[in-house]
Amino acid sequence: MTSAAHELAERLREEMPTNKEQFFAALSAATSSATVLRQNEPLAKKTTLRVGGPADFYVEPAAEVELAAVLRLCGEHQVPFVMLGRGSNLLIKDGGIRGAVICLAHPNFSRVEIIGNRLHCGAGAKLKTVAVEAKRHGLSSLEFLEGIPGSVGGALRMNAGAMGSWMFDVVETIRFMDCAGQAHERKASEVNVEYRGCPLFKNHIALGATLKGEPATREVVEQRMQTFSRKRWTSQPAASSAGCIFKNPGPIPAGKLIDELGLKGMRVGGAAVSDVHGNFIVNQGNATAKDVLALIEIVRQRAKAARGIDLETEVEILGE
Ligand code: EPU
Repeated sequence: MTSAAHELAERLREEMPTNKEQFFAALSAATSSATVLRQNEPLAKKTTLRVGGPADFYVEPAAEVELAAVLRLCGEHQVPFVMLGRGSNLLIKDGGIRGAVICLAHPNFSRVEIIGNRLHCGAGAKLKTVAVEAKRHGLSSLEFLEGIPGSVGGALRMNAGAMGSWMFDVVETIRFMDCAGQAHERKASEVNVEYRGCPLFKNHIALGATLKGEPATREVVEQRMQTFSRKRWTSQPAASSAGCIFKNPGPIPAGKLIDELGLKGMRVGGAAVSDVHGNFIVNQGNATAKDVLALIEIVRQRAKAARGIDLETEVEILGE
């Protein structure tokens, strides 16, 4: 959270419970019964790392108009909000998230519709579904999405990548909403993207995207998917993790560096640097966010001390 968002969250907490109840009542009044609304919602099981505390408010809007209403209410009541995708690439701290967590898991946000070579995808669609649908329709170039445990929205926000490709390689247009609840559409070529990031989504919410595939036979697509899947299963851990913890620094892949420093297998509490791939921290079953954060810090310090390399986290760290 930014410091301004943090201050707001602090104030919200101090003014509770009245304001909290008022805000929840306002959310209930502004949304239909199809929208999921909860207070004090545990989040750990909604993340692939499976650590972290609860959200003050949890919302799964049932439609764009309801999402817009929720965003406007967050603005009016000065309640900070964060978006939750499929929970990969995310580390939620043990104290949880003050404010609202919004998740576009409702089927209305998860459609994948194929017209010609184009896939019209909602932000909540799973990347695996996108890849499988592309294969079914004989469309190549999207095979790399198969093994990324995320949603289209999350992949847009962080320009997710694997197997030498990244999300914006296949994006033609994006749809997004601003914090006032207004929807916009833009060509991908007009949007600034970087390795593991798309700054537009720091203050806008992804609603969906049109992706472009290349015609191919199903067999060719299937073969490419199998090759990627084999590489992933042999080089990455199956245990609960947030995906790669660090961005690859220029000089050397983070996993290789951590391996060379002999840090694989290092543990703090229930968190361990994976024996399979050095850039993964796995939850051995009872890890806390505190364990994971402590391990991240040790690895960063060792990399700096031994090689002078600053490792920057790729995983998004939220909460308190
Ligand atoms: N390596 C080691 N030891 C290790 C891990 C890796 O020596 O413990 C070596 C490998 O042998 C290889 C090199 O390091 O020579 C790079 O490893 P790998 O091919 O696994 O790729 P990576 O750079 O570590 C990137 C993405 C992954 C993506 C893979 C596969 C980043 C930070 N990571 O990993 O993305 O799945 O390529 O394409 O860019 C993620 O973003 O969460 C993620 C997992």
